[in-house]
Amino acid sequence: MFRTAIVCMSDKGARGEREDLSTKVIEKIVTEKGYKVVKKILIPDEYELIKETLKNICDNNEADLILTTGGTGFAKRDVTPEATLEIVDKIVPGIPEAIRAYSMSITKRAMLSRAAAGIRKSTLIINMPGSPKAVDESLSFIIDSLSHGLEILVGSASDCTR
Ligand code: MTE
Repeated sequence: MFRTAIVCMSDKGARGEREDLSTKVIEKIVTEKGYKVVKKILIPDEYELIKETLKNICDNNEADLILTTGGTGFAKRDVTPEATLEIVDKIVPGIPEAIRAYSMSITKRAMLSRAAAGIRKSTLIINMPGSPKAVDESLSFIIDSLSHGLEILVGSASDCTR
């Protein structure tokens, strides 16, 4: 059972002006797959705060997986991918590539998501777009492929040899 933290980046959500439905979507999908949600955090689109929040979860080994939602688009305050990439040890380009490739078959606007993914210590961080619909489409597509990578990351599997 992988420990999952959900971090939502939303200025409006943090001010209480918008309900955070995307976190609920993530929680439902991962819980159905047997992941344990250990943390849910809602923060504004502040670069330093995003970095500190992600770093703390990884460095205190609080989660195996961090799923972020929001802040991946073109708005001035959208900085989630930059904050993520600055604190990871390794980038994992394949996951956002896969999400965008699949999502493009649903809407060409998927190309507007700048989402990134990477590993800090033993935690995998994956950015997803902000809307509940986009989160549902993105996460549902990748979720079944994540466990193999997470098993290797947390040390319960050593490699891909069958
Ligand atoms: N991906 C999927 N699967 N479905 C969507 O509806 N919307 C796109 C894109 N990715 C979308 C998607 C749109 S319209 C934008 S602007 C970007 O995600 C960035 O979203 P964000 O700023 O909420 O992070």
